[in-house]
Amino acid sequence: MAKPKDIDWGELEAIIDKHRGETWALIPLLQDIQETLGYIPEESIEPIAEALNLFPSQIQGVISFYAGLSLKPKGKYVIRICRGTACHVKGGRSILRFMKKEVELDEGETSPDYQFTLETVACLGACFLAPAMMVNRAYFGKLSPPKVTSILAEYGKKKGED
Ligand code: FES
Repeated sequence: MAKPKDIDWGELEAIIDKHRGETWALIPLLQDIQETLGYIPEESIEPIAEALNLFPSQIQGVISFYAGLSLKPKGKYVIRICRGTACHVKGGRSILRFMKKEVELDEGETSPDYQFTLETVACLGACFLAPAMMVNRAYFGKLSPPKVTSILAEYGKKKGED
């Protein structure tokens, strides 16, 4: 079973060192860590704060503000279902219900094998595709249950698989 990568402290320190003293670089630094490790380990907050002369609470605040940053490991594939108005009127809610059943996850959950994370967002900015979702950076629109099943199959989700 795949597990989130163990923290590679060498890699983490290299990212922090690259931005040492650059207070303005907090967000790019956090994005770097997020992309490299798939999340921002709690243990990295102190060293980041020290390197950028900030308070740990400032780092925490930024992480909780930005949807793309997370203190928890996420799945290899992050599914984001739109719950905005345009998607809602085109059946977005039933797509979300169907997706929850297919991946056996609730909003905000990650599968035990770290394959999928399910999230919802206020609007994906692709309302003309309603109902829409994203898997990592890829957009999918005009969704229907069969379409969702075939998209999930592309990402390695087999029918009946946990
Ligand atoms: S409302 Fe769903 S993409 Fe905008």
